[in-house]
Amino acid sequence: MAELMGGIKRTGRCGDFTTGDIGRKVNVMGWVNKRRNLGGVIFIDVRDVSGIMQVVFKSELNAALFGKAEKLRNEYVVSVSGHIIERDPDTVNPNLQTGFIEVVAEELRILSEASTPPIDMDENSKTNELMRLKYRYLDLRRSTLQENFKLRHRTVKVARDFYDENGFLDIETPFMTKSTPEGARDYLVPSRVNKGSFYALPQSPQIFKQLLMVSGFDRYMQVVRCFRDEDLRADRQPEFTQIDVEMSFVDEGDVISINEKFIQRLMKEVKGIDVLLPLPAMTYKEAMDRFGSDKPDLRFGLELVDLSDILAGSGFKVFSDAVKNGGSVRAINAKGCGRIFSRREIDALVEFVKIYGAKGMAWITVEENELKSAIIKFLSEEEIKELLSAASAEPGDLILMVADSDKVVYDSLGGLRTELARKLGLLKDNGDFNFLWVTHFPLLEYDAEEKRWTSTHHPFTSPLDEDLDKLESDPGSVRAKAYDLILNGVELGGGSIRIHRRDIQKKIFNLLGFSDEEAHERFGFLLEAFEYGVPPHGGIAFGLDRLVMLLAGEKSIRDVIAFPKIQNASCPMTDAPSRVDEKQLRELAIKLDHDQL
Ligand code: AMO
Repeated sequence: MAELMGGIKRTGRCGDFTTGDIGRKVNVMGWVNKRRNLGGVIFIDVRDVSGIMQVVFKSELNAALFGKAEKLRNEYVVSVSGHIIERDPDTVNPNLQTGFIEVVAEELRILSEASTPPIDMDENSKTNELMRLKYRYLDLRRSTLQENFKLRHRTVKVARDFYDENGFLDIETPFMTKSTPEGARDYLVPSRVNKGSFYALPQSPQIFKQLLMVSGFDRYMQVVRCFRDEDLRADRQPEFTQIDVEMSFVDEGDVISINEKFIQRLMKEVKGIDVLLPLPAMTYKEAMDRFGSDKPDLRFGLELVDLSDILAGSGFKVFSDAVKNGGSVRAINAKGCGRIFSRREIDALVEFVKIYGAKGMAWITVEENELKSAIIKFLSEEEIKELLSAASAEPGDLILMVADSDKVVYDSLGGLRTELARKLGLLKDNGDFNFLWVTHFPLLEYDAEEKRWTSTHHPFTSPLDEDLDKLESDPGSVRAKAYDLILNGVELGGGSIRIHRRDIQKKIFNLLGFSDEEAHERFGFLLEAFEYGVPPHGGIAFGLDRLVMLLAGEKSIRDVIAFPKIQNASCPMTDAPSRVDEKQLRELAIKLDHDQL
C-alpha cells in the first residue's frame, strides 16, 4: 500500500551527492531502478532526473526494514532516509559521480507501487517504437531521452539569451488564424460562433512577424509551434517548433551574420565546439552542380561531374538526346567501388536511381588494362578518354552516369551520392558538424501538373534586385534573396529578405495564380499594411527539433519531441485524432460524409 511522505523533505537529488557528503544524513526520493538481493544484503538503485543513488539494506542492522525492502520491485517510487557512507572498493562505479558512495537505509517509505512496465525500459530496449510511444511516459524515463530533453532545454535557453542580448523581442503570435502559405496543407479549426468558418493553425508565423516589423518592433524572435498537414518523415512532424526570427532594415548578409553568431554560441555552450565564422556558403546553382542537392552533406566528397560537353555529340543517343533536349549527362566517380561492389550491388544502384525518375544509369568499371561497361561500344575513343579524364578515373573506380532533364539528373545523382555514402559507411556520426549556407535559390518553381508557378520558399520572398526585370519575361530564371542553413545534409533553417513593395508583392501573387480578388481576400490585410510605411525586412526560422536531433546525434526528431506523432499523424498514447460526439458536431454545423470515412 502506498504511503504518504509524512512530512519528510527530500535532501537533494540522487545524482547530485558526492564524496563530500559522506557522513551526512539524507533523504532521497525516486524510482527503484535496479534491485539486487544478495542474501542478507539488498542493494537498490534509486533513480531520479539527476541520476542514481545506491541504497543498501542489511538484515543484520534492521530485520523489519530489510523485510520491507524485499517487497520492492522495479519502478516503485520510494523515499529512503539514511547516512551516506563510502562504498566498499569492490562495489565502486567510477563512471558515476555517486559511484563512490551509498546510503545505508534507516527508513523506507513506499510512496507508490508499480505494475510491471509493459515495455522494456532498458537503454537498448528491443520493444518496438509503437509500443514505446503508447507508453511514452515510461519510455521518457530512459536516460538517453532525459538527456535529449535537457539538451533541448539548454538550446532554447541559449536562443532566448542570445536574441535577447541582441535586442530581439519575444512576441507571441496567434495560433487561431488564417492560412499562411508555406506549401503544406493547413490544419483547420471550425468556429462555433461563426458557423461554416474555419481558423487555420499557422504553418509558421510568417505574416505576423512581417506585420510586427510594420509595427516598428525592429527585431522579433519567438520559439513557436507550427502546424503542417504533410507526409511524415524522420525529420518531419505535423506539429514542430521553430526558432523564428525577423529583423528590419537589413539585407541578406545582416540576417546571415547575426544568426550564424547564434549557431556559434549554441555550439560552444551545448557541445563545447568552436565554430569558425563566417560559415561556408555556396549558391543554389553551385550546390546542385556539385552535389545534386540544395542541402548537400559536406562530410564526404563524391561530387558530380558534368559530362554534357564531352557527350553532346555522342553516337549514343541516350546521352546526346538528353543534352539536345536541354538536359545533361552527369556522373559520380565512386572511388575504388569498382573493386568492392558486386554486379548485383551495381544493379541495385541502377534500380535505386529509378525512384528519382531516372530511366536508367550507365556505368563503367575501370580496371588496370580495360574498361568494363555495356555502353563503351557506343562511345568513341576520344569521348572515353575525355570522360575518364573529367571524372579523374583510376583503376578500381566505378563511374555512374545519368542522362536526363537536369531535374532528374540532379535528383537521382544527389540521392545516389547519399546512398553511396551510406553503403561506404561515410555517414557515421563522428561528431562532425558541417554547416553550410545555400543562397540565391530560384524564386519560383514550375508545377507541371498544375501548370503554374509556385514559390520555392513562400510568396513573400524578395527577388534579387538584378533579376527583377525578368519576372515577367523569364520567371524561372529569377533568383531570390533566400538562404537555407544546412547541417550534415539536413535543412536546419531557411529565410529570406521579404518583398516590402506592394506593387512587387501583387505581381508575385498574380504570377502564383492568385487573382487580385483572391490575393485581396487572403492577404488583403498584409497588402494594406504595406500602405502605411513598411521597413525593408527579412528573417529566418530554424527547425528546433531538427537542430536538437542533430546535436543529440539522433536519427529522428521523434527522439527530441516529448509526445510525437507516428506515421499517420496519430498519437498512440492519447489516440488523437479521435471522433467527437454528435452534439459537438451539431454545434459546429458539421455533418460527416459517412461514405468517405
Ligand atoms: P521553412 O518552411 O523553411 O520556413 O521552415 C523553417 C524550418 O522549419 C523546419 N521544418 C520542420 N521541422 C519539422 N517538421 C516539419 N514538418 C517541418 N517543416 C519545416 C525546417 C525548416 O528549415 N516562415 C519561413 C521562415 C522564414 O522565411 O523566415 C518558414 O517557415 O528545419
